Amino acid sequence: MTMNFFNPVTTQTWTNGRHLVRCVKVIHETADVRTFCFMAEQPVLFFFKPGQFVTLELEIGGEPIMRSYTISSSPSIPYSFSITVKRMPGGRVSNWLHDSLNVGDELVVHGPVGNFNIMDFPADKVLFLTGGVGITPVMSMTRWLFDTNANVDVDFIHSARAPRDVIYHRELVHMFSRLPEFKLHVVCENKDDIGEAWAGYRGYLTQPMLELISPDYLEREIFCCGPTPYMNAVKAILRETGFDMAHYHEESFAATPIDVQEDVQELAEQAEVAAEEIDYAGMLSIEFLGSGKSVRIQPSETIHAAAAKLGLHIPKACGMGICGTCRVELKSGEVEMDHNGGITDEDVEAGYILSCCSKPKCDVVVDF
Ligand SMILES: Cc1cc2nc3c(=O)[nH]c(=O)nc-3n(C[C@H](O)[C@H](O)[C@H](O)COP(=O)(O)OP(=O)(O)OC[C@H]3O[C@@H](n4cnc5c(N)ncnc54)[C@H](O)[C@@H]3O)c2cc1C
Ligand code: FES
Repeated sequence: MTMNFFNPVTTQTWTNGRHLVRCVKVIHETADVRTFCFMAEQPVLFFFKPGQFVTLELEIGGEPIMRSYTISSSPSIPYSFSITVKRMPGGRVSNWLHDSLNVGDELVVHGPVGNFNIMDFPADKVLFLTGGVGITPVMSMTRWLFDTNANVDVDFIHSARAPRDVIYHRELVHMFSRLPEFKLHVVCENKDDIGEAWAGYRGYLTQPMLELISPDYLEREIFCCGPTPYMNAVKAILRETGFDMAHYHEESFAATPIDVQEDVQELAEQAEVAAEEIDYAGMLSIEFLGSGKSVRIQPSETIHAAAAKLGLHIPKACGMGICGTCRVELKSGEVEMDHNGGITDEDVEAGYILSCCSKPKCDVVVDF
């Protein structure tokens, strides 16, 4: 590889879309967490907003399957990006990544997208609250703030099961030992099975613990990511103590992924059964240009569901307007799009919609 390969002048910049990338490194973080680093075949500068995520487009056992993963690296190191994946017992994609994705393998990613990022909510003082693998977006934010010498006061409270489960522990300790305005606190949940000497906080995060660690937390911009019960507990603490929730931002990993095949098959079957009993009054026509097919649906149904009724596989991961995977171009008509940050204003202006969360307001034509 020549130095020219990394020439920042001639190197393209990453934009939201579908990209082929190659796995260049696999790092064992903890017993059940691994980081996968990727680069593009042709050099690309991977710029994104720290906290954003990508969606992997995979084929496992002959079936298409997509899952979203936060970018855990920082755009301050832009020639590659990484995701950090926790093995979920029985989980299809996380286990496949751990067991089958090797250095040199190629895969397709969509993104980067996501509203949960530090650039859109700049602040002088932040509080990072994370649980388990929910540390990934906040690690990207921390690395970014550290690398760019941002003058930001960081209180970082991470909750883990046990010391051995603390992801990126040594890197965090290193970063936080170098800047007085970066303060790291790790809370280990498991009281009986710590596995090594632990002088830090124990148990679950509580209001007194929060107040002790970060006495000025009411004045901070808060970024929170972790298991749903953890985030619910955090929100309850903040609401009870009068925190202005306009300054609270969270990311949930708990979107229910729907396997494309099952989804399409189920809807196609439903459509077949119901075809003879349909009352067409009030229904709207959805035409798909690429396939030349059209179908009539209720205004309460999504464009994605309309495609599925015709057996068309629009790629889908989160099903709730956060990952951007199901983006299609609207050629005519209007939709009501209830998304969660999976599409940029520029894409909306250019006529794109997220089919999983867009419902027709009139007859529409879609480029798919
Ligand atoms: C925006 C976003 C960012 C994310 N970032 C990260 C990240 O940085 N790191 C990370 O590790 N994860 C992240 N996730 C979560 C990730 O997308 C996956 O959901 C996760 O890896 C699990 O996927 P899986 O395919 O392994 O598990 P799945 O196959 O989806 O299964 C999930 C769980 O459900 C159980 N299950 C599956 N099917 C059934 C069934 N029929 N009945 C009962 N139980 C069932 C499985 O046993 C498993 O425990 C993120 C998610 C989102 C939406
Ligand atoms: S599938 Fe994620 S935005 Fe539609």
